[in-house]
Amino acid sequence: MNISIIGAGNIGGSLGKIWASKGHSIIFGVRNPKSQKTLKSLEGLETVAQVMFIKEAAKKSEVIVLATPWEAVPEVVFQIADMKDKILVDCTNPVHPNPEWPLSQGTSAAEEIAKRLPGFHVVKAFNTLGAANLYDVQFNSVKADGFLCGDDPGSKKIVTQLAEEVGLRAVDVGELRNAELLESMAKLWIALAHQEGVGPNIAFKLLQR
Ligand SMILES: NC(=O)c1ccc[n+]([C@@H]2O[C@H](COP(=O)([O-])OP(=O)(O)OC[C@H]3O[C@@H](n4cnc5c(N)ncnc54)[C@H](OP(=O)(O)O)[C@@H]3O)[C@@H](O)[C@H]2O)c1
Repeated sequence: MNISIIGAGNIGGSLGKIWASKGHSIIFGVRNPKSQKTLKSLEGLETVAQVMFIKEAAKKSEVIVLATPWEAVPEVVFQIADMKDKILVDCTNPVHPNPEWPLSQGTSAAEEIAKRLPGFHVVKAFNTLGAANLYDVQFNSVKADGFLCGDDPGSKKIVTQLAEEVGLRAVDVGELRNAELLESMAKLWIALAHQEGVGPNIAFKLLQR
């Protein structure tokens, strides 16, 4: 499958490397093809991944992964807003306020994005664990969960497959209105990893019986 990844930093670069190793064609969409982050994400992928400016990259694939800081999202969304029949996988976390798109309580970055992209099915995913953990999602005998939500079942099926290719157990938490919960989970992950001294080698698991 062609997968366009907008943003080639920690999360975009990690997902690109993993999916390329599973045989997908990766197209990084970036503002600067020569930035240090872009070049690092391309390391080892020179023959299998392409780099383009954001709009060109987005045109190339049905699946577009949004992996930029929240502050950059309005600009990226503006560039792709006229496209149709796409799946947008939103990995962003609104950790810093974005004055352009203030988030009121009860809404989420993912819903704000979906409102402005009528030609897209938005799926929130890959935002609840640190990028470095994506390379090894096995914690002793326990597989980390990859939580996702969205309104279109077909799109969620594709994102579920992509999460499983990363090695995660995919957990569907329902419609896109639940994206706020996943964005709060990310804040919890960040607090534990970086403020409470637990460290970043952690992931969430839903226990069931
Ligand atoms: N890091 C994690 O562990 C993690 C985990 C889950 C979710 N997330 C979320 O994923 C998103 C990306 O995080 P990250 O850690 O991967 O960030 P990062 O390493 O800083 O990479 C950000 C990427 O976005 C690009 N970018 C920045 N500003 C831009 C703009 N105005 N227009 C276009 N592209 C722009 C950067 O391009 P340049 O190279 O040109 O600067 C870079 O390719 C964030 O929303 C974050 O909250 C991160």
